[in-house]
Amino acid sequence: MRFPLISSLALLALGCTQNEKNNDSAQTPGMNLRDPHSFARPDQRVGTHLHLELGVDFEQKILEGTALWTLHGDGDSVVFDTHGLEILGIAGTDGAERSYQLDTPDPVLGQALRIALEAGDTSVVIRYRTGSEAKALQWLGHSLASTETDDVPTTPFLFTQSQAILARTWVPCQDVPGIRFTYTAKVQVPPGMLALMSASNPKSPSADGSYSFEMPQPIPSYLLALAVGNLGFQSLGARSGVYAPPGILGAAAYEFAETEQMIAAAEALYGPYAWGRYDLLVLPPSFPFGGMENPRLTFATPTILAGDRSLVALVAHELAHSWSGNLVTNAHWADFWLNEGFTVYFENRIMEAVYGREYSEMLAALSHEELKSTVAEMMASAPNDTKLKLDLNGRNPDDGVTAIAYDKGYHFLRLIEETVGRPRFDAFLKTYFAENAFKVMDTERFLARLNTALLSPEESAQIGVDRWVYETGLPDNLPVPKAVRFEKIDALAAECLKTGRMPEDEAVTRDWSTHEWLRFVERLEGAPVALLYDIDRLHGLCASRNAEIAAAWYVRTLKAAPSADGNWTYVPPTHPEYSAHLERFVLEVGRRKFIVPIYKALIEAGLVNQAKALYTKARPGYHAVAQETLDALMVRES
Ligand code: BES
Ligand code: ZN
Repeated sequence: MRFPLISSLALLALGCTQNEKNNDSAQTPGMNLRDPHSFARPDQRVGTHLHLELGVDFEQKILEGTALWTLHGDGDSVVFDTHGLEILGIAGTDGAERSYQLDTPDPVLGQALRIALEAGDTSVVIRYRTGSEAKALQWLGHSLASTETDDVPTTPFLFTQSQAILARTWVPCQDVPGIRFTYTAKVQVPPGMLALMSASNPKSPSADGSYSFEMPQPIPSYLLALAVGNLGFQSLGARSGVYAPPGILGAAAYEFAETEQMIAAAEALYGPYAWGRYDLLVLPPSFPFGGMENPRLTFATPTILAGDRSLVALVAHELAHSWSGNLVTNAHWADFWLNEGFTVYFENRIMEAVYGREYSEMLAALSHEELKSTVAEMMASAPNDTKLKLDLNGRNPDDGVTAIAYDKGYHFLRLIEETVGRPRFDAFLKTYFAENAFKVMDTERFLARLNTALLSPEESAQIGVDRWVYETGLPDNLPVPKAVRFEKIDALAAECLKTGRMPEDEAVTRDWSTHEWLRFVERLEGAPVALLYDIDRLHGLCASRNAEIAAAWYVRTLKAAPSADGNWTYVPPTHPEYSAHLERFVLEVGRRKFIVPIYKALIEAGLVNQAKALYTKARPGYHAVAQETLDALMVRES
């Protein structure tokens, strides 16, 4: 009898010190947490725990409730970020009202909420509701305006996208990646619907539509997430599962069946998974990203449900963020490459472990091509944004979301690996994640660590660390992935370009994976229209069910067949409905990575009016972050 007592006491004590520790140094000592994209003053008071109580109102499309913040530190005021929130009142720890002030709004950053504290205040309760244009939120009532289904309402759905600085549009918070807090939440939704958060989650709907959540590990605000809809759950293994609309739940479970293997591979590389469960949520197609690493619950686009598991590198990517990003977090958005470059590297290692080197080298080679074309383009328009360490002061941090952070970051880390060898690099990374778990990291600290704990001065010079991080463009020692499976693809593409014909023999492409198709389409640069017609006739790419391939094909064909008179010129004889396929795609899919290049290609092909008309029709179905990017693109055209 004594043992259980002692051990539970010990556990309790441990829990306390653990919490105290979180509250004290959930923040990283010695790190400057003032951030150019936040009004928060972490030198005064820091919110260390959030208790959220929210009602989800699908009629008015608002969230309304309270945010109770437990505060740490000294100072007689506390500053939160808000953006479009309507503040209804604020109470101190004694329950009495506190006075507060909302600064004039900044279009990107929103408004500082300054609360005057009184002696004894260790918390504040903010009563609020979201505004009509809360940019993190997308409310879906009807299916995206696709012509045939215009009047078929789908069940309502709500999801959030907080990264980079949109958490403040639905929760008053210190919206800085460097400030971490734990959270609990109570959410009330219409009965029958399931509510999910980046926290402990239910597996089935509650009878009364009320849900409780807990996130015991401290997270930064950009990982706050909520989704509400008609969703089912299917287990994938001991600690993973998938949530999806009932109609696609089976397909999703099939697609993600290898998730447990990925978790095991990730842990074998860089240490234990720190977040308990790892579940996936398949969102409506308007989700503006491929995936979002909300802790415990990755948000994913349905466009990766290709039916053949060929796009699951995205799962490896979001899973990898459970270490790079969610455990060790970029201090500021200027250090975004620490989140994404590390994650692409880690993703690649997981894919290699589970699917083999031949496979992962195809992914690396695609990243390489993407990097080279992005750098070529950006050196002409925004050369400074080709540095890994970004200057985002006075800008929207969304400007930093380019292939630089992802693919230049990946190639830099790969160069380090190739220079010191895998055993040394892996040991370094494993220690790095363990030592910096639940902390923030900036570029300078990382480089200091790299140069003291891993690289000799000679190795550092050989790599040209500073050149990679602080200078524009691509250094000469850019690693070149060796994708053997692409060799025959490249040879075939060259042959096609030379002869102007695609081989009729079906066997040529029978065993191609999605990645081989993507490489092939990429290599058809400069192909004449007749050749593309030929390929469409044989393989129907403009109607492909694989969203990656279809999107790449639309861009390729628009580039090959510019219009002189503002009308479609790419109309393959056997697929006269080409433009209908393209239209259906952009009306249904809101994933920014696909639709932005398509609209750009339409404009560059001389189809400006079509691009605008299409966008006008599709825009209401897009999430605010996609709208923002495309609005800017369309404005440039007028
Ligand atoms: N965290 C990102 C998405 C993101 C970045 C949202 C910045 C908002 C601001 C996510 O992990 C990501 O990188 N998604 C990629 C997936 C891909 C690289 C496998 C995407 O959405 O395309
Ligand atoms: Zn990512």
